[in-house]
Amino acid sequence: MVPLKRRKTDSGSVRCDDNEVIRFPHVVIFLLERKMGSSRKAFLTRLGRRKGFRIEESYSQAVTHVVSENNSGREVRAWLESQAPAGSTEVPVHLLDISWFTESMQAGRPVDIQDRHRLQVTLEPGPKAVMITLNGYACQRRTPLQHHNTVLTEALLVLAENAEFCEDEGRNIAFKRAVSVLKALPQAVRKMGDLQGLPCLGEHSQRVIKEILEDGKSREVETTLQSEQYQAMKSLTGIFGVGVKTADRWFREGLQQPSDVARSGQRLNHAQQAGLQYYNDLNTPVTKAEADVISRIVEGVVQEVLPGAEITLTGGFRRGKQTGHDVDFLISHPEEGREEGLLPKVVSLLETQGLLLYQKTTRNSYLETKEGPARPPSNMDRFERCFSIFKLERPRHSTSPEEPPQAACEESPRGEDSALEQLAGERQDWKAVRVDLVVTPVSQFAFALLGWTGSQLFERELRRWAGQEKNMSLSSHALFDNKRKQYLRASSEEEIFAHLGLEYIPPCERNA
Ligand code: UTP
Ligand code: MN
Repeated sequence: MVPLKRRKTDSGSVRCDDNEVIRFPHVVIFLLERKMGSSRKAFLTRLGRRKGFRIEESYSQAVTHVVSENNSGREVRAWLESQAPAGSTEVPVHLLDISWFTESMQAGRPVDIQDRHRLQVTLEPGPKAVMITLNGYACQRRTPLQHHNTVLTEALLVLAENAEFCEDEGRNIAFKRAVSVLKALPQAVRKMGDLQGLPCLGEHSQRVIKEILEDGKSREVETTLQSEQYQAMKSLTGIFGVGVKTADRWFREGLQQPSDVARSGQRLNHAQQAGLQYYNDLNTPVTKAEADVISRIVEGVVQEVLPGAEITLTGGFRRGKQTGHDVDFLISHPEEGREEGLLPKVVSLLETQGLLLYQKTTRNSYLETKEGPARPPSNMDRFERCFSIFKLERPRHSTSPEEPPQAACEESPRGEDSALEQLAGERQDWKAVRVDLVVTPVSQFAFALLGWTGSQLFERELRRWAGQEKNMSLSSHALFDNKRKQYLRASSEEEIFAHLGLEYIPPCERNA
């Protein structure tokens, strides 16, 4: 081997002339020559490489940061789309202004990306069109509950769900991201041009949208909805306690519906037995009125066990939804430590009052370590928690469907046979409702509140933002700065958004 030619630099450190050391392998930069010119590009390339940056000669899928000078976001995106086949740009590439590059050169490392560094990608304004700018992460956008593109989102959600049933997580998330972009649009999409410049719309999603805009429906969605496998997976995963893996095994054994499972003599765990028994109720949406009744019951029991403890309704209802699949509560006490041992007492009191049809309580297993959370950051939280099914009395002499139901305090005389009745659709004077009770120490309350308010995609995007953009790990317990090796405390959701460098988004706009 011929040794590489080496020379001393001014600072005295040794480097290779043709083979600079890459100090930041995760940052792969491409400098756009357009409007920059070849000689300036060559100069900046040499400068960057001398400082240990990886700068590519030509654009490829490996590039993470596209830097340009005097180009608009739309121009760069159009260029990017001409480089990469449509849909392959779903892995977000940062489109950055030269200011990010020069600041990074000064700092001697890639500086954190601020909004001012990003090129704004806007829609081409039509004659009367509104300028639409959407950021790439759902946690940077406001997503209301009511939106203008339900026909499109419902279709894409079928494909997302089907991908989940096929355990294709990448595809599942890609469709969900596309859905969440459509939900955030201030108006209905009427033509494909309306989508220009928007993030997260891959080739597949665009194909489906195009078909719906042109023909009113998508063949792929129709076929999926009619497929035996989709229908079976949908009803089987609708059983509380049954996940995709179990449902898929049952389907391959020839089971298609809950009644098939009941007849088949499958070994079922307690959760699945309850899931089967209360199948119809648990697949009937829980109303806000019912959630409010349950709130009052839980509040009463919690106060009886520990005066001063506080309960908070979270999940979809906190985001303003009028129905949900369950009711989620956080329980805490303003004095740290007082919440310990609370949950078993609450559960036992609820049980004595005949209010629980099923419950499984898990203990708190969260431990904070100096080195930060275990990596990769797990999104499973470790709170003391009770998954339960409440027995909620239906309003007895109600003439108005609006009147909220009461709690059922006595055993139903028909209790044991209810599985068959439920599956047969017979109406009882009570309703089974899924309720999650989660206990949090007050020091983790803000994180738990943010984590349990959802939506699921919003949470996922928050964690992705924290990791990829901020080098931080976010969970429902804490926020850890991996660079400074320290936990960032917060007593409100606003403070957490601020730590993350994000604009605060209120719960009703987290419906991503
Ligand atoms: P849900 O699954 O209850 O969703 O989780 P939701 O938004 O309330 O929707 P519906 O109306 O019930 O169908 C609420 C939030 O709690 C988090 C989820 O990520 C979601 O954001 N969660 C749920 C956890 O953090 N851990 C869990 O084990 C379950
Ligand atoms: Mn919920």
